[in-house]
Amino acid sequence: MSKIKVAVFGCGAIAQRRHIPEYAANPNVELVAFADPVIERAQSMADTYGGKSYSSYEELLKNEKVDAVSVCTPNFLHAPMTIAAANAGAHVLVEKPMASTAEEAEQMIEAAQKNGVYLMVGHNQRLMPPHVKAKELLDSGSLGKVLTFRTSFGHPGPEGWSVDGRESWFFRKEEATMGAMGDLGVHKSDFIRYLLSDEVAEVAGFISTIHKEGTDVDDNSTCILRMKSGVIGTLTASWTQYKGGDNSTVLWCEKGVMKIGTVEGDEVIVELTNGNVETHKVGVMATNEKQVPSGVIDSFVESILTSTPPSISGEEGLRSLKVILAAFESQATGKIVKL
Ligand SMILES: NC(=O)c1ccc[n+]([C@@H]2O[C@H](COP(=O)([O-])OP(=O)(O)OC[C@H]3O[C@@H](n4cnc5c(N)ncnc54)[C@H](O)[C@@H]3O)[C@@H](O)[C@H]2O)c1
Repeated sequence: MSKIKVAVFGCGAIAQRRHIPEYAANPNVELVAFADPVIERAQSMADTYGGKSYSSYEELLKNEKVDAVSVCTPNFLHAPMTIAAANAGAHVLVEKPMASTAEEAEQMIEAAQKNGVYLMVGHNQRLMPPHVKAKELLDSGSLGKVLTFRTSFGHPGPEGWSVDGRESWFFRKEEATMGAMGDLGVHKSDFIRYLLSDEVAEVAGFISTIHKEGTDVDDNSTCILRMKSGVIGTLTASWTQYKGGDNSTVLWCEKGVMKIGTVEGDEVIVELTNGNVETHKVGVMATNEKQVPSGVIDSFVESILTSTPPSISGEEGLRSLKVILAAFESQATGKIVKL
């Protein structure tokens, strides 16, 4: 079978650390082109992995016939790039948050449908081994129903991650739309929906810029969520955890508690009311410093190869995005927002 020809839009941190090496490691993929206005970044990827470099994604799409595209650019470019790639007949894997607005996300879904291509969103938290294990344990029923939860994600901020450091687009509202909520909060709205097999019904959001200077995007937020099932919990996103960064979720259930990512080395801990304690060592939770294969790229390629729609679809990305947008609306209006 001929290999899937892939192009990557944006050759910054997530492209360099995850998308490009994971495509390169996949025997069914040929990396054919890279686009970045900082042409040295695209060229350096082409030098390492083969293929051509472009400073404009439009030029790339004009000159190359590609089967699939990864969109790894600042948030405001996700929608136009996804739509252009879909219109060029390419399947699209777009990074999260999938778009800046729900309308954009809907247009992306429509463009994929119209062109008969797949749209997948890079919600890699679902595929992290501790989260896969947690889902399996919860679905087994041994903990009974979930009653309440907390889920949080925090690190010191994107200045230590983005290829542009403190000058990054992550801090500019017109390019990022949102700060920690778009970077980290949307990961957890997606994860909690997935883990609980439930939808968010109501959101109350407290969102602020508390400590980052010279930016108008949020660096901290705490939201209260009521799920359709009635379960209530909190979601926290922070860019100011300069020490003690956190990617954890705790579920208090009828028959005990499940702690995910609370103790390094014991990624999933189940403590039952009957006194039983299980600890599951299921591989590290990836952090900015400790990168592990995301599984997202292989899953996207597998979808294309087997003509199976991706489970982390545009529709899923949109539902997770809507939770975050509702939190902003709640912050702006001082009201609880229903979804
Ligand atoms: N799934 C995850 O865990 C995860 C982790 C980090 C980032 N992300 C997401 O990935 C996306 C990219 O983030 P990043 O951390 O790589 O940022 P980054 O700042 O490191 O890189 C962004 C790159 O995009 C390039 N770019 C800007 N305009 C462009 C254009 N018109 N065409 C092509 N390239 C362009 C920049 O020059 C830069 O090289 C964001 O949406 C972010 O939220 C996801």
